Amino acid sequence: MDFSFTEEQLMIQDVARRIAQEKIAPSAEEHDRSGEFPLDNIRLLGENGLMGIEVPAEYGGAAMDPIAYVLAMIEIAQGDAAHSTILSVNNSLFCNGILTYGSEAQKQKYVRAIAEGKEIGAFALTEPQSGSDATSMRCRAVKQADGSYRINGKKSWITSGPVAKYFVLFAMTDPDKGARGITAFLIDGDRAGFHRGKTEPKLGIRASATCEIEFDNYVAQPEDVLGDEGHGFKIAMSVLDAGRIGIASQAIGIGRAAYEATLAYVKERKAFGQPIGAFQMTQAKIADMKCKLDAAFLLTLRAAWLKGQGKRFTTDAAVAKLTASEAAMWITHQALQIHGGMGYSKEMPIERYFRDAKITEIYEGTSEIQRLVIARHETGLR
Ligand code: CAA
Repeated sequence: MDFSFTEEQLMIQDVARRIAQEKIAPSAEEHDRSGEFPLDNIRLLGENGLMGIEVPAEYGGAAMDPIAYVLAMIEIAQGDAAHSTILSVNNSLFCNGILTYGSEAQKQKYVRAIAEGKEIGAFALTEPQSGSDATSMRCRAVKQADGSYRINGKKSWITSGPVAKYFVLFAMTDPDKGARGITAFLIDGDRAGFHRGKTEPKLGIRASATCEIEFDNYVAQPEDVLGDEGHGFKIAMSVLDAGRIGIASQAIGIGRAAYEATLAYVKERKAFGQPIGAFQMTQAKIADMKCKLDAAFLLTLRAAWLKGQGKRFTTDAAVAKLTASEAAMWITHQALQIHGGMGYSKEMPIERYFRDAKITEIYEGTSEIQRLVIARHETGLR
């Protein structure tokens, strides 16, 4: 077993770190306060290959492996979680799905624009009444005599929805077939019949715009179908497997930002005549933070390595996401406690890390869904 990274992996990590620290982190507080979508930074990330890290060069990407993706995501999330949310949807949920299931024409048309950072992509699975229970979706795509599909329905909590041009949409083409009646479509947000709702006011990752979208007799052509008709649920689930590696990496980045700030603070801040880092209760928290971060990192690398080897990684991605997101929540909670009043104040980024960490336990499959995926695999029972 080799724990070292390749030159290429270290190179993209370095590019991501530089942009995160020089361009993203300095405006993170302002983006959090205003909720403004960081379009200029997203374009910059695209120009540097970070919007299509695993995308082959022929489609405008950086042609790197899943481990490089993990390393870059951690750096961007450490700079600002909202930026890493946008990056993860473009990379894992949009480009990855089309590269795996799309036709050559779809790859040329959709992947290149997103990988180069010229357009934003989104993933539309969740609906107002169906989140974890994704197969109970109501959005309908009805096939017409000429082979086109007429789409009607609503999707909610769409990351980058207010600004995305292209969407991977999941809709019911045959409701009697349940999961096997779902089809994936590639949607153009500029076409007739597509509407965006109001931007959600969120607790964290506030600069990653999120909204409801609505389809009102939107017409999709046969060439807009991603993969085969009726295969949409499997496409959604396998794309989310990759997405969960991205969210695990995001959680590590947020946890690392809180950990590094805490490490500096406990050496400076004095109480009862000594740095608070000298007290055993603080030291125990620091040691536990370090262990949780290392465990999350290694588990995420394992899932990414399996993906790179072309092996099934569904359970490993669930283990990584569950461990990393709960680590991020615990670490940011303890970081806030150690910082005391300063941690509770908006004068420091700690309360933002705490708010940002929470989403990693919710989106791309809640912690309860990750436990369900893991336990079904381990027990063989459902
Ligand atoms: N890869 C490939 N196929 C898979 C799969 C996977 N990981 N998981 C399931 N499938 C297949 C199954 O093999 C099965 O196929 P057959 O019909 O051929 O047997 C089919 O899909 C149905 O599987 P299940 O019976 O296991 O489905 P289920 O209804 O019990 O649901 C679930 C399983 C794990 C609960 C799933 O619904 C799930 O993961 N829910 C969470 C959804 C989620 O993560 N939503 C996040 C929203 S997107 C988001 O957050 C994006 C964003 O903007 C940031």
